Amino acid sequence: MRKTKTQLIKPRIREILSKILPKELVEKLPKRWSQIGDVLILPLREELLPYKHEIAKVYAEVLGVKTVLRKGWILGEFREPHYEIIYGNDPITVHRENGILYKLDASRIMFSPANVKERVRMASIAKPNELVVDMFAGIGHLSLPIAKHCKAKVIAIEKNPYTFKFLVENIELNKVQDKMSAYNIDNREFKGENIADRILMGYVIKTHEFIPKALEIAKDEAIIHYHNTVPERLMPKEPFETFQKIAKEHGYDAELLESRIIKRYSPGVWHVVLDVRVFKK
Ligand SMILES: C[S@@+](CC[C@H](N)C(=O)[O-])C[C@H]1O[C@@H](n2cnc3c(N)ncnc32)[C@H](O)[C@@H]1O
Repeated sequence: MRKTKTQLIKPRIREILSKILPKELVEKLPKRWSQIGDVLILPLREELLPYKHEIAKVYAEVLGVKTVLRKGWILGEFREPHYEIIYGNDPITVHRENGILYKLDASRIMFSPANVKERVRMASIAKPNELVVDMFAGIGHLSLPIAKHCKAKVIAIEKNPYTFKFLVENIELNKVQDKMSAYNIDNREFKGENIADRILMGYVIKTHEFIPKALEIAKDEAIIHYHNTVPERLMPKEPFETFQKIAKEHGYDAELLESRIIKRYSPGVWHVVLDVRVFKK
C-alpha cells in the first residue's frame, strides 16, 4: 500500500531531529499540527521548549512553510490566540478553502481547522435574496462562504479593530463587495431591527447573552445558527432549552431544526451549533 504524504513526513522529521535531540525527546515530537496558508501551528510540550527553534526549523523546511507558531491558548472576549512565533517572522498568510481566500494573522486571529465542515456548510445555506447578519464575523470565517457561493446579502459585524482590518481585506480579495458589508462595532450597538432572514452567532461560552440582540435583528420569522459550548452532562437538552427560554421571554417561539457537534472544546465540553427557527408570537 502507498504511504500518504504525512506518513512519509513524520519519519523524515524524526530522522533529522534525532541527530539534534536526546532520544527520549524524539518520542515526544508532535505527531499532529495544523497549517493555515503557509503558517504552521505546532503544539509543543514543555520538555521540548529548550529546542523549540531547532524543531520549528525542521518542521518548516520539511513541510515548506514560512513561519511556525507554538500553539497556545485562545482567550478573552475576542477569542484571540496567544501563539508564539518560533520560526520565521511573518504570521500573516492567505488560506484557501472551498474557493475562498482568508487573509489573517495566524498568531492573533483564530482560524480553527476543526470548523471546516461548518464553513463549507454555510456555502449552500442561504436562499436567494436573503439578508444574513453575522454577529461575530471574525475575518469572515462563516459569512464569506455565504457571500461567495449563495445569492444572498451579508452584513458582517466584528468588534476587534485588528480582525476587522482583515475582514475588510477579505471582502475585497474575494470580490464580494456588492454582496457583503462590514461594521467595526460591538454587535449590541448595531442599529438594524427586524431585518435579517438568517443570523450567524459563531461565538462560544457566552453566546446566550446575545440572544435578545439576535431576536431584535431577526425578522418576525428567521433562522439563527446558534453556536455555544455545552458540558456533555447537559446534552442533548442544552443549549436549546436556554435558547428557547430566552426567546420566550422576548416574545418568540423557537423550533429546533438541527443540532450538530463542531468539536470538543475542552474535556467534557462540546462546541455545538443549533439551527433554530424563531417566530414572533
Ligand atoms: C471565535 S471568533 C469566531 C469567528 C467565526 N464566527 C467562526 O465561528 O469561525 C468570534 C469573533 O467575534 C468577535 N466578537 C466578540 N464579541 C463581539 C461583539 N460583542 N460584537 C462583535 N464582534 C464580537 C471576536 O472579536 C471574534 O473575532
